[in-house]
Amino acid sequence: MRKPIIAGNWKMHKTLGEAESFFDSVKDRLPNAGRADTVICAPAPFLASLAGRAGDGSPEIGAQTMHEEEKGAYTGEVSPVMLADLGVRYVIIGHSERREYFNETDESVNRKTKSAFGHKLIPIVCVGESLEEREGDKTAEKISGQVRAALEGISAEDAANAVIAYEPIWAIGTGKTATSDMANEACATIRSTLADLYGQETANQIRIQYGGSVKPENIAELLAQPDIDGALVGGASLEPESFIALAEAAG
Ligand code: G3P
Repeated sequence: MRKPIIAGNWKMHKTLGEAESFFDSVKDRLPNAGRADTVICAPAPFLASLAGRAGDGSPEIGAQTMHEEEKGAYTGEVSPVMLADLGVRYVIIGHSERREYFNETDESVNRKTKSAFGHKLIPIVCVGESLEEREGDKTAEKISGQVRAALEGISAEDAANAVIAYEPIWAIGTGKTATSDMANEACATIRSTLADLYGQETANQIRIQYGGSVKPENIAELLAQPDIDGALVGGASLEPESFIALAEAAG
C-alpha cells in the first residue's frame, strides 16, 4: 500500500557533465513509476539542468537542503521558492551531515519542514542516532524525539506526504549497515511515534526509508521488512548501474 521510494543522495559529488550523463543513462531504464518512486537529490548547481531533463521514466529531482525563508539576505542559501520554480519535487531536511557540520538543529529542521510543505515540496526528514547513543540504549528516545520535533505544528494532511529517513549515523559511508532487524525496529519506533502524533491511519501512509551503506546486495533484505518503505542511498547512488539495480529491487 505504501509505494517504495528510492532516493539517491549524491552529497558533494560529480560535475555538471557527469550529472547529466548519469541522468540520461538511467532515464527510461527504471521501474515503472507506478511501482516505485525514484529520486536523485543532486547538488544545487545541477538542479536546473536535471529538472529540465526529467520527465516520464526518469527519476524525480530532489535538493539536499534548503533555507526556510522565501527570499532575503542569506548569502549562499537556496530558497524553497527557487526549488519549486525549477520543478524540484523533494528536499532532504536535517541530514546528519547538515546537523553535524552546518549547525542544523531540531528547531531549524522543523522550520524547514514546515516551509517545504508550504511550497509543495516533499521533505525527506532525516533522523538517526550516533554510535554512542546506540550503545547507551538511547536509540528509540533519540529518533522519536527528532521525529516529534521535526513535525511539530504540521498537520496530519501534510505529514501523510512526508518521507522520514532513518539513518543511523554510524552506518553512513562506513560500510556498516544496520542489520535488517535493527533497521526495521527503528523504523517501527518511528511509525509508532507517528501513530501517537497523528493516529495509526496517517502513520500507515507515511513512507519511512532506511539509509546507511545501502547497496544492491543488501537492499532486498531491507525492503522486505514491514516498516521499511525505501532507501536513502549515498555512495551506491553515484553509478548508473548501481542506482538502476537499487530501483529494480524496489519496483
Ligand atoms: O543520505 C544517504 C546517506 O547518508 C548514506 O550514505 O554512502 O552510507 O549510502 P551511504
